[in-house]
Amino acid sequence: MTKAPVTGDVTESAEGPGAEQRPGPAPSTSSSPSSPDSPGPLSSPGSSGSSGSSRPDDVIRTRGLTKRFRGGQLAVDGLDLSVPRGSVFGFLGPNGSGKTTTIRMLMGLIAPTSGVATVLGEPMPQSVASVLPRVGALIEGPALYGFLSGRDNLVRFDAADPTADPRTRRLRVETALERVGLSAAAAKKARAYSLGMKQRLGLASALLQPRELLVLDEPTNGLDPQGMREIRALVREVAAEGTTVFLSSHLLDEIEQVCTHAAVMSRGRLVVQGTVAELAARAQGRLVVRTPDVAHAVEVLTAHRVGSLLPGDGRVDGDLAALGSLGSPVEEALPKLCAALVEAGVRVHGFGLERGTLEDAFVALTGEGFDVAG
Ligand SMILES: Nc1ncnc2c1ncn2[C@@H]1O[C@H](COP(=O)(O)OP(=O)(O)OP(=O)(O)O)[C@@H](O)[C@H]1O
Ligand SMILES: [Mg+2]
Repeated sequence: MTKAPVTGDVTESAEGPGAEQRPGPAPSTSSSPSSPDSPGPLSSPGSSGSSGSSRPDDVIRTRGLTKRFRGGQLAVDGLDLSVPRGSVFGFLGPNGSGKTTTIRMLMGLIAPTSGVATVLGEPMPQSVASVLPRVGALIEGPALYGFLSGRDNLVRFDAADPTADPRTRRLRVETALERVGLSAAAAKKARAYSLGMKQRLGLASALLQPRELLVLDEPTNGLDPQGMREIRALVREVAAEGTTVFLSSHLLDEIEQVCTHAAVMSRGRLVVQGTVAELAARAQGRLVVRTPDVAHAVEVLTAHRVGSLLPGDGRVDGDLAALGSLGSPVEEALPKLCAALVEAGVRVHGFGLERGTLEDAFVALTGEGFDVAG
């Protein structure tokens, strides 16, 4: 699937699924499908402490945002999202968990079934016309002109933006091409672009102008490892310039590397949101013992209530959750455990805690692996 840039003027291919639900650009104020005055109950378990009180500095905010497609599929279910200004916000979830659907609602491409969303303080989709010029976006949906070069596609996107000064167009286009590493391939027709090149072109279009908010749906999709590193560096650079970045991904380590905040989706629902440090801290670290005496170590650790032991080659690792639930902090149990191993004659070559990953946190929170939902 190719991604299409959406900047200012929203163009979405009519052939995309769900195009029929596009609410249209009508900046209507009265006939809202949602209930703008009811913030709705806070349902996300992870909105640690922050109550439902309105925070003006949230660049994106949703309350009870819900999308049920015509076929009955509940793609997004009562989403309460708060994206602080200045954050690099990772929107994380397995395939089919509702990320793109949420982003399409945020950008006014489809109307929510219920609930409210504000972007840059304005209700969406009602304020599409005033909000989108302030947002750079890269979302799914083929909207590149294959017969035009990459460069000329960008010229067209820039020309479609009523706020863009035509006199500086060339400069903007060349700068954007340069930033995404497409200068050398700029004259090539877009239909001859690889997936990664199309992705870069989409990003370039989102970067034509400095924006308050950049919304990127799976920006590293289709990129090789080097390309992924470049895009991550670019995201950091844009954030350092003061742009809030909201990016979706199903790659946990990507989110850990580039984001300050994250929200985790599972089957259309928000599982947790917070700073990446908070989320990773929720993930219980695993005990790792390096030893040639694996079987013996497993016996001793089992006797000391270390759970889910995984014997490996020269190592055993296990879950300390049961120890923590005995009352004393895990830190106090560790030296005792180490002493017990040594006393039993296990040759301990290494002993320590491996930091939990976001994936561990996800599995702990949902009881599920990071797989495609049905
Ligand atoms: N136009 C549509 N009509 C019906 N169902 C849809 C439509 N678009 C998405 N869905 C369904 O909604 C759910 C969420 O899809 P969505 O594209 O939002 O997931 P996602 O998190 O972006 O996944 P991915 O990581 O694969 O991009 C899926 O079950 C999908 O099949
Ligand atoms: Mg998606």
